[in-house]
Amino acid sequence: MTFAFHRLHPRFAAEASPLDLRCVHDDETLERIREGMDEHAVLVFRDQAFSSEEQLDFATRLDGDLHRKTGISVLQESRFGDEALTDVSNVDADGELLEADSRKRQYGLANRLWHTDASFQDPRGRYSMLAALALPPVAADTEFADMRAAYDTLEDETKAGLEGLRVHHSIAYSRVTLGFEFSEEESDRLKGAVQPLVLNNPRTGRRSLYLASHASRILDRPVPDGRLLLRDLMEHATRPELVYRHTWRSGDFVIWDNRATMHRARAFDDTRHRREMRRVTTLDTGDPARIAQPV
Ligand code: OGA
Ligand code: MN
Repeated sequence: MTFAFHRLHPRFAAEASPLDLRCVHDDETLERIREGMDEHAVLVFRDQAFSSEEQLDFATRLDGDLHRKTGISVLQESRFGDEALTDVSNVDADGELLEADSRKRQYGLANRLWHTDASFQDPRGRYSMLAALALPPVAADTEFADMRAAYDTLEDETKAGLEGLRVHHSIAYSRVTLGFEFSEEESDRLKGAVQPLVLNNPRTGRRSLYLASHASRILDRPVPDGRLLLRDLMEHATRPELVYRHTWRSGDFVIWDNRATMHRARAFDDTRHRREMRRVTTLDTGDPARIAQPV
């Protein structure tokens, strides 16, 4: 199957020419999509019509193991009956808009902080695939930041100083910074994970800064020094020229590489308008299919 990618931003993010991903089963096309991910880090596919099952199957075909140890599963079960399907919506199990003081809503609001998906787990998240099912009549965009460009545009001396640094990521940490409270039992189940501050994509050899609002401290630095460095890097990585803002259309299906990008939801009046999205995230496991083969 032949198709092309059209750039949406000078540095990264591209839109694929029309293609029904439910029908993509051949290795050649799947590999073209992986190559597109290596190059653009965010891919937009229009007019997709996945059922939940089809979205799970496609994610597995493209990238292998699925992330199921989500943060929200510690608070409540997925209304879709499979923790691999993350409900990125502002409605309850009956489809009613969440009240302002709903715990699910307040937990989800932290998606408005810059983050990567599943950096607080080991193995971490690799690709996320978000399907837009119902959109509000007002803008409710998602922004992406290119973390390869963030790394590339650091001074050489700064780059050298980041080598080997290890960062603790916790989903509870990013929520607590907004005032969200966890029970002792929930906190026990959300211990987080340690990740390198700089990642290397084994397929491309490109490096990226691996940051998120879940990043609570640098293990190899005193706490305030580490937190200040993380804040400086976050500021550097989210300069407007490194950010692509996606305005959703109904049927949009967006895949992003969590190793190469951060993202955040932009604010809208979520207690008035419904917005329903469904996400599947794969795990950054060393699946041999994912390592570039010598030619
Ligand atoms: C996500 C996410 C942002 C948004 O699905 O992981 O952060 O705009 N979504 O809903
Ligand atoms: Mn997210």
